[in-house]
Order: sequence, then structure tokens, then C-alpha cells
Amino acid sequence: MVNRLPVIALDGPAGSGKSTVAKLVAKRLGIHYIDTGAMYRAVTLIALRENVNTKSEEELVGLAIRCNIEFKYDDKGFKVFVNGQDVTEDIRLPEVSKASSDIADSIGVRQHLVSLQQKMGEAGGVILDGRDIGSLVFPNAEFKFYLDASVDERARRRFKELKAKGVEQSLEEVKKDISARDKRDKERPYGALKLVSDATKVDTSDLSIEEVVNLIASKIHTKEDISTIDE
Ligand code: DC
Repeated sequence: MVNRLPVIALDGPAGSGKSTVAKLVAKRLGIHYIDTGAMYRAVTLIALRENVNTKSEEELVGLAIRCNIEFKYDDKGFKVFVNGQDVTEDIRLPEVSKASSDIADSIGVRQHLVSLQQKMGEAGGVILDGRDIGSLVFPNAEFKFYLDASVDERARRRFKELKAKGVEQSLEEVKKDISARDKRDKERPYGALKLVSDATKVDTSDLSIEEVVNLIASKIHTKEDISTIDE
């Protein structure tokens, strides 16, 4: 017997609601949240700023190693820092979303970020959202969920989010970007997005955020003892 809190893996495509849901589940259960997409985005942002050759695996891995990525909470919520600088807003820009697929294709960058994620989550008491959490980062996670929604619904959500931030992009463009990212995420040779057989699939198209959070939290509470795991 070992006493530790569980690892919760939350995978799914862009715009499926993972990060919003993961933050709320973390708050409700009093556990940590690790936004693995933010890590790929942070490396992407610095690659764009430093004009790094994204075709060079060596340069990309060097850059990823130089990026000290930290997650912090303050009174305004969840924040992402790279090398001490707050990049919470900038990593959500459409150009970063687009370029992030190239960075996520790099096997060297993935190996580096996956090993950081494993270290961050090894003590348990954590929910990680991403594409490869249940398949590669924590294949033995105690709980695995896969969030999905139709591409139209995901595009509508992303469009609303971007509009609220003052980012000008048409709904059609947002949908095109999301479809392109879906294809890249699913076809990547290493760390591809997939629905693993032991994950619970949740279609969020017609569910509110609260309903999704309730569903996930209820599944976790139905396990008899979440703090003690047999080994
Ligand atoms: O979830 P997101 O949109 O913030 O992810 C940003 C990018 O990182 C996206 O191109 C998918 C990629 N990603 C990944 O390949 N593996 C993860 N575990 C998380 C994100």
C-alpha cells in the first residue's frame, strides 16, 4: 500500500473544454493542475520571438531546455511564466496556436516536456490536460478522461474566447485552424492524440462546463478511496 493522491489524465482535441474543466476539477478536489498544452505553447512563443529554425531538431531541443516553464496562481488566476516572464496571454495568440503544431511534432521537444510533466506529476494529487497524457505521459494514471465535441462547437467556443480578448479572426478561419490542428494532433507519429481503451469519453457538445466538471468529479468520488492506492 502506498499513500498518494491520484493522477487524473484529461485528453482531447483543441477546444474540447479541457483546460477550463481541468482548472475547475483541480479547484474542487484541491489538487494541482498542469496545463501541458501551455508548455508546448510557451516553447512555441519563444521560438517565434527568437526566430528559431523550427526545422532544426537540435535548435528546438536546445530552446526547450532553455525555457524554464512555471505555473503560478495569483488573485487573477492561473498564470504561465517562461524564464520569469508572464506569458499567460501571449501563448493564446492565434499565431502561437498555429505554430504550436510544428513544435509539438518535434520528438526531442516532446521527450523533454514529457519528462518534465512526469516529474511534476509523480507525487500524484494532480490533473494534467493534453493529448498524450493517458497514452504516454501517465499510462498508469488512476483516472483517464477524453473530452470531445463536434468541430463546429469547438470552433464556436474558440471564436467567442478570442473575440472576448479582442482577437480578430472569423469563425470560418477559427474552424479551419482547429481542423488543421486536429489532423496534426491525430497523425503525429509520437505522442498522437488518441482515445485509449481505459479512458472515459465525454462528449461536451451539449453539456455546460459545470455538467462536465460534475461528471468527472463524481466518477472520481465514486472510487472507494482516492487517497490510498494499492501497489
Ligand atoms: O491544448 P492546447 O491547444 O493548448 O495545445 C497547444 C499545442 O500543443 C497543440 O498544438 C497540441 C500540442 N500538445 C501536444 O502535442 N501534447 C500535449 N500533451 C499538449 C498539447
